[in-house]
Formats: sequence, C-alpha cells, structure tokens
Amino acid sequence: MSLRSSLKAISALLILAHVAEGAVFDVTKYGARPNADLKPALLKAWSLACSSRTPSTVMIPAGTYPLSPVIIQGPCVAPVGVQLRGTLKAPPLSQITTESWVAFQRIDRFTLSGGGIFDGMGADAWKKTIDCSTNTKCKRPTSIRFNFVKNAVIHDITSKDAKQFHITVLGGNDVTFQRLTIVAPEASRNTDGIHIGRSINIKVLDSRIGTGDDCVSIGDGAQQVKVERVTCGPGHGISVGSLGKYANEQPVSGIIVKDCSISKTMNGVRIKTWPGSPPSTASDMHFENITMTNVGNPIVINQNYCDVRLKCPPKPPSKVKISKVSFKNIKGSSSTEVGVKLVCSSALPCENVELGNIQLTYNGRAAKSELANIKPITSGRINVALTGA
Ligand SMILES: *[C@@H]1O[C@H](CO)[C@@H](O)[C@H](O)[C@H]1NC(C)=O
Repeated sequence: MSLRSSLKAISALLILAHVAEGAVFDVTKYGARPNADLKPALLKAWSLACSSRTPSTVMIPAGTYPLSPVIIQGPCVAPVGVQLRGTLKAPPLSQITTESWVAFQRIDRFTLSGGGIFDGMGADAWKKTIDCSTNTKCKRPTSIRFNFVKNAVIHDITSKDAKQFHITVLGGNDVTFQRLTIVAPEASRNTDGIHIGRSINIKVLDSRIGTGDDCVSIGDGAQQVKVERVTCGPGHGISVGSLGKYANEQPVSGIIVKDCSISKTMNGVRIKTWPGSPPSTASDMHFENITMTNVGNPIVINQNYCDVRLKCPPKPPSKVKISKVSFKNIKGSSSTEVGVKLVCSSALPCENVELGNIQLTYNGRAAKSELANIKPITSGRINVALTGA
C-alpha cells in the first residue's frame, strides 16, 4: 500500500470510529416539541441510546420543554450521555406524587452535560403547608436524583428553584459533579444543593451553589467525598449530617472540603448529629483553606442538633462517635459572636480534632468559641480563644 492510500484508509477508519462513538439520538426526531411534555420523546431517545452497542448521546437541543416526572433507567449496553442544551421545566406540585422530578437510575458510565437548565419551578412548594389542591398525594420532589449511578460525570449543568433538594446521590460510586450552578432563593425551604448519602468516591468541584438550605450535605454512608473549589451562599453552609436520626446508619468517613468560599450563610463548615441517636461513627473529615464572609457560625460541630420546627424536647446525648477531624486555614468574618462552636456529645466526646491557622473575626474583633466535651489539638496561629461556653 502506498503511504497516501494507507493514510486514506487510516482517516476513513478514524471517521468511522468517530461516527460509532457519537451516535446521537436527538429528542426532536422522536416527537419533542417546545412547550409540549418532553417525557415520551425523552424516553424513546433514551431507550435507543441505552440499548446501543456503541457509546451514544441523547440530545436535548436549545428550547424550553415542560417535563413530567420521569425515571431514566439503566443498565445500558455501552456508555451513554445526555446533552441538555435547553431548559426543562417541572410541573406544578399538584401534579407530582413521586420522590423525584428526574431520576437517573442504575446507570454505569454516564455523562450529563450541555449547559442546560433543570428548572424545578419550586415557588409553589416552599410554603410551610403545601397546597395539593385536588391531589392529596402530592409531595415535594427532589429535582434530580442519581440512584445507584456509577462512573459518571455531571458537568456544566444548572439546577434552579427545586421544590425540595436540588440533587441527591444515593448508592453512587465514582460520580463527579463539576462546574454546576445551583440556585434558589435564600428563603426557599429544604432546597439543599447536593445531598450525598450511602455513596463512595463522590466529587463536587468548581461549582457555585446558593440555596435556602445546605449547599452540600453529606449523609450517612458517605465515604471518600471531595468538595473542592465550591462557592457557597446563601444557604446553611457545607454540612456533614445531620447524622444519627435513624437506626442502622452507616459510617461516614474520608470527607475532604477544601479551597471553598462561603458567604452570608447560617453556618460555614459543620458536622451535626441528633441527640438521643442510635450508635454510629463519623471520622476522617477534613476542612481546609476556606474563606468565610459574614457567616453565622463558620466552624461547627453540634452533637445536640435539633430542628427548631420539631420543638426539641430534652434527649439523652448523641451516640455518634466523631473522631479524626481537622479544620485548617480557615479565615474571614463571622456574623455572630461564636466563630467556633464545637459542642460534642457528653456520652462520646469528640476525639482527635485539630484546629490549625484559624483567623475569624466578628465586628472587626476576634470571634469567640463555644466548646463542650472536646480537647482540640491546635497548631499555627489561632485568633479565637478556645474556651468552654
Ligand atoms: C484556597 O482556596 C481558594 C478558593 O477559595 C483558592 O483560590 C486558593 O488557591 C487556595 N489556596 C491554596 C493555598 O490552596
């Protein structure tokens, strides 16, 4: 074969390979029309992509599409991507009886990207008592759930105005969220940004999250979680917990939160457990290089956590054992006197908690601390006097 013809053969092969890689199932070819429910077309395109023997993509082009609650179900034969370029709009609360608006379930090797928007249209769900009108079974759904999803990347996606949590990951393994924008008003109830539970190897990177509740919350059974370069606020901060509310909770371990900036939130970085809890453990949790701007309580361990709405009767101390925790290089301003609150359980004091280089001010002066059942190990410069309450 001449050089020329072998080059030709090679480029033909490359083109073929490219086509094989890139089978695209565009929802508009399967009946999607702007302003009509996308669900039937999305499910059709998904089933073709999911059964494709080569990697493929479901494409949702620019435009606004109402979407009724849907489960995008695996397993699939080959890797599948969903390219969302348009805006998806959730139906009114009165039409939702499911736990999620959009659920991605049991998918291995999955990508969700495209710069598009999941609009939960949540204003109807943020009231104290929800009005289901004629549908007595309606519930506040999570906008996007990833249930038992593995080897997945979710990037360049916006989730706004969820009716409840924006995103939850359950039973996940190796899932990365990158460059997400998650927004809801400060006064929207329970609109956590990303909740991670019973999952391993989860990353939240380079994202902007501002909602009415935790920016990121890490629940029981979360292991090897990294939260890096996240901007958080408004909301309640970045939290591990609340833990110890239910029996048989799984351990939390291997949590790293670093290079984040948190502003105008109720808390900064926080670990919270319920009093009166069944035994469990939370260990190996590290918070590093965090800038706080006007944050209610920038550093918190609270083992006496109680949702004020539940009135909080006195309870026996928490049995969640907290150990191997570090807070390092944390600086900025607190909007309350207590910059460092470390209130551990009298039944199981916190162990091996390290504070290093902490510079927190309140009204231009050093913030204060509130400590119970803990003897922190200190290093570097700490401007907060570490004393009991
Ligand atoms: C600390 O975090 C900020 C983001 O809040 C980042 O820009 C900076 O590079 C980090 N510093 C170090 C020393 O890692």
